[in-house]
Amino acid sequence: MSILVTGGAGFIGSHTCVELLNAGYEIVVLDNFYNSNPESLNRIKKITGKDFKFYEADIRDRAALDKIFKENEIEAVIHFAGLKAVGESCRKPLEYYENNIGGTITLCEAMRDANCKKIVFSSSATVYGCENVSPLTESMKIGGTTNPYGTTKYMIELILQDLYASDNEWSITILRYFNPIGAHESGMIGENPNGIPNNLMPYVTQVAIGKLPQLSVFGDDYDTPDGTGVRDYIHVVDLALGHIKAVEKVLSTKEVNVYNLGTGTGYSVLDIVKAFEKASGKKVNYKIAPRRDGDLATCYSDPSKALNELGWKAERGLDKMCEDSWRWQKNNPNGF
Ligand code: NAD
Ligand code: UFG
Repeated sequence: MSILVTGGAGFIGSHTCVELLNAGYEIVVLDNFYNSNPESLNRIKKITGKDFKFYEADIRDRAALDKIFKENEIEAVIHFAGLKAVGESCRKPLEYYENNIGGTITLCEAMRDANCKKIVFSSSATVYGCENVSPLTESMKIGGTTNPYGTTKYMIELILQDLYASDNEWSITILRYFNPIGAHESGMIGENPNGIPNNLMPYVTQVAIGKLPQLSVFGDDYDTPDGTGVRDYIHVVDLALGHIKAVEKVLSTKEVNVYNLGTGTGYSVLDIVKAFEKASGKKVNYKIAPRRDGDLATCYSDPSKALNELGWKAERGLDKMCEDSWRWQKNNPNGF
């Protein structure tokens, strides 16, 4: 019996594959390499000393999915595959709806027909929209998303809830990630953005290594302790370990459950810059720039439901997140 990991070559997927293999699971990985590199799969094998089956395939390709379910005994699916860039989603909404929503529907249809009805889905804190006040809890009303990417996550959550309501044989765990950073401590896998990074940590590491001249801090006049945006940064290995608990949950129940995966602590952009400078010994050149459209002042989780129901809690602090992000960047200045 295996766990199918869609998007397993990507940032969070590759770290989760490592933890699944370490925990003794057999895995089958599917990715179309739209936003990843085949080398990440070799690195997973090197880190774990274990092998696994890989399919270069698209989640929108029903025939390819049917083949995977026919050739393997898939017990559950962890579904990472999707497009994730907020800005790009505003320029290419149809591509985002088609890939994320169309792809998830095709995947769920293939799962249903193969009688594999256990899925862990990668959602995002973005589904909380801009009305809710942090700390964010799973019982808050979701929606009011501010970009097509966020709306795809919101809509997929609704689709999965409807699917469960129609057929209680499904077992569904929806994970709302906060801001994953860091890398595996081997320095062999990490976040590998194409072009100029959109997210804070890869931008910071690229400034530190000299690939980019200066970080723009988007706004210093928010209602936060130092005026810069506050987020709940979580080490990607802690996030990956949360998926192990989520898999145990989907394998042992027939329910739909939603969990925040965050630390519960908010750090500002300048906190990140300072912690990174300390961990790396490098100066991060920055300037204060105008606010970025669509950004919230503050976003952090209440992670207590995951602790109470999954027995999961993030263990790695900000210094470790910065050290590991830096080791990955330093060892792989040009990515994979
Ligand atoms: P990523 O881009 O590194 O990984 C996604 C993987 O999916 C990539 O390897 C990509 O090639 C693959 N993929 C995309 N479309 C595909 C398709 N149609 N068929 C097959 N493979 C496809 O992103 P990540 O940061 O690892 O994110 C994983 C998931 O978590 C995504 O669904 C993302 O939206 C979600 N998420 C990420 C964050 C974050 O900040 N990184 C936050 C919240 C939620
Ligand atoms: N920031 C900068 N300069 C940069 C990049 C970011 O100052 O060059 C600031 C932002 O303004 C924000 C913070 O750093 O205050 C974090 O920004 P990120 O882009 O790293 O992350 P976001 O919180 O905006 O978004 C992330 C993911 C989304 C996801 C969201 C909520 O990128 O996919 O978290 O889960 F939807």
